[in-house]
Amino acid sequence: MKSIVILISGRGSNMEAMLKAKLPCRIAAVISNRPDAAGLGIARSHGIATAVVAHAEHASRELFDAALGAEIARHQPDLVVLAGFMRILGDEFVRRFHGRLVNIHPSLLPSFPGLHTHRRAIEAGVRIHGCTVHFVTPTLDNGPVIIQAAVPVYADDTEDTLAARVLAQEHVAYPQAVRWLVEGRLMLTGDGRVLLDGECRNAAVLLVPQSDDSLLHQPLSPARERGAT
Ligand code: GAR
Repeated sequence: MKSIVILISGRGSNMEAMLKAKLPCRIAAVISNRPDAAGLGIARSHGIATAVVAHAEHASRELFDAALGAEIARHQPDLVVLAGFMRILGDEFVRRFHGRLVNIHPSLLPSFPGLHTHRRAIEAGVRIHGCTVHFVTPTLDNGPVIIQAAVPVYADDTEDTLAARVLAQEHVAYPQAVRWLVEGRLMLTGDGRVLLDGECRNAAVLLVPQSDDSLLHQPLSPARERGAT
């Protein structure tokens, strides 16, 4: 059975979704860069070993990355799962775990990398938003897509309502992606393609949320748009 290490920085709801999904793998440890991360308590309550590698206690990114890498390596995981881990990892770290380091980002990448994705989606006026699980590469919030989940953006959405809608899909998409990985069904090829069951399906699987009648707007035909009858 494969083993994974999950890295968190805060609440840990994606981590918890993974624990509840009863994935066919051993969760060797949950590691946080913040000692006060609420997710640490959740992990412990599930009997999972936890550790803290506090970024604030390291003088540079390189030293932090090295300490984090050493703590992860102690567990010899097959996969390192970033679940709301809010530190940028350096190139050397990313290369070290290449092909077995995955992340979830709360937007449909490549739209809205970085922070405040829900606010920016509302400000941009997009109608569709979502989340992306991807392999991590040295470029921030980039890297081959494993799975994406889309949700509608409503006219009266606030940052919080949209975040909650996306988060519910994160809790479906991320355990699914990790399940494929630990079952050995999903892999990253040397040339950066994502294979599921040996096939390149462009591996972006779109989870369309339950349809809602208000969304079922039939586009007008070109003739009707011009005002013809
Ligand atoms: C999640 O929405 C995750 O997508 C996001 O942080 C949140 C963590 O929530 N990650 C990033 O923004 C990474 N760039 P959680 O701690 O409850 O899982």
